[in-house]
Amino acid sequence: MSATIHCGTQKNLARLARVLKRGGLVAVPTETVYGLAANALDAEACRRIFRAKRRPANDPLIVHVADLDTLSHIAVPNEAAAKLARAFWPGPLTMVMTRTAAVPDVVTSGLPSVAVRMPAHPLLRRLLKICRLPLAAPSANPFGYVSPTSAAHVLEGLGDAIDHILDGGPCRHGIESTIVDIRAPKRPILLRPGVISAAQLSKVLGVHVANLSRRQVSRKPALAPGMLARHYSPRRPLALHRRITAAMVARAGAGDVWICFRKPSWAAAAPNVFWLSERGDLAEAGRRLFALLRSLDRGRWIRLHAETAPSRGPGLAINDRLRRAAGFRS
Ligand code: TXA
Ligand code: MG
Repeated sequence: MSATIHCGTQKNLARLARVLKRGGLVAVPTETVYGLAANALDAEACRRIFRAKRRPANDPLIVHVADLDTLSHIAVPNEAAAKLARAFWPGPLTMVMTRTAAVPDVVTSGLPSVAVRMPAHPLLRRLLKICRLPLAAPSANPFGYVSPTSAAHVLEGLGDAIDHILDGGPCRHGIESTIVDIRAPKRPILLRPGVISAAQLSKVLGVHVANLSRRQVSRKPALAPGMLARHYSPRRPLALHRRITAAMVARAGAGDVWICFRKPSWAAAAPNVFWLSERGDLAEAGRRLFALLRSLDRGRWIRLHAETAPSRGPGLAINDRLRRAAGFRS
């Protein structure tokens, strides 16, 4: 593996900013998951992202900006976008807006829109300020696999394909940003749930933010590119359950491993039982989900089982990722 993991010293940040300005790739920490970044204004640099990840060209990238000046260079924010930016940026919210001519087609897969977010991670913010560029960055994993929430995860998946990883520690949220299409301000559409919920967005906007239906996607795939595919998936098959019980575990084989939402009272006796949060805290569960899926996927198990989270707040995003990881089979 050729990638180097850099800690966030001023000297390293200056060096990585030079790599980005020259058209190179740098994996960067964000508060959601690690991203694989390149200069969003440089088409060739962005093509390198697709190659490194083996990502299909019809799955557009999210562009990360440090400030509203950079935003207005690449997108045309309306009043609704401005409201959401005031309420949630910097933070784990991506907005789909009309794009400007400054954005190369490769970033948006040729769509007339661009997805933008202002990240909150302090190291990435410093890097964005030093390089003074918008950075296109999808999650820093080989296409289709579970998103990385630590520098070690990035190394494991892309260590042979990239040279530089900036280590910002484990990600605070551990689940990709909420994505909302805000172009029609009276009818915003939630394209991907995240830790910022549709209810929180609706409250700030004063209009209902609708969930994207699978029917809408199949009628108009360009509305939500990259959303129908199986995604975030471990290699081992994953089955979902509303509730995991001691009897289910006892009946199953030795190759089955179980991820409960919270620590069950009977867990101590079972070495193949894990949980996302001891006390059932949704934020902690989100933070741990991908790391746990990855580590169990590396283990000796044949089949993974997971219990869905309570359907509220970040629990909706956790369940969305679990359903995708299960390939929509359960
Ligand atoms: O938290 C995150 O959003 C992370 C960090 C690195 O910022 N990024 C991320 O990117 O998860 P990723 O790999 O999910 O890819 C971006 C997704 C695409 O698959 C697509 O669903 C959506 O963002 N997207 C990008 N541009 C879009 C557009 N113009 N219209 C609709 N959806 C878009
Ligand atoms: Mg991704």
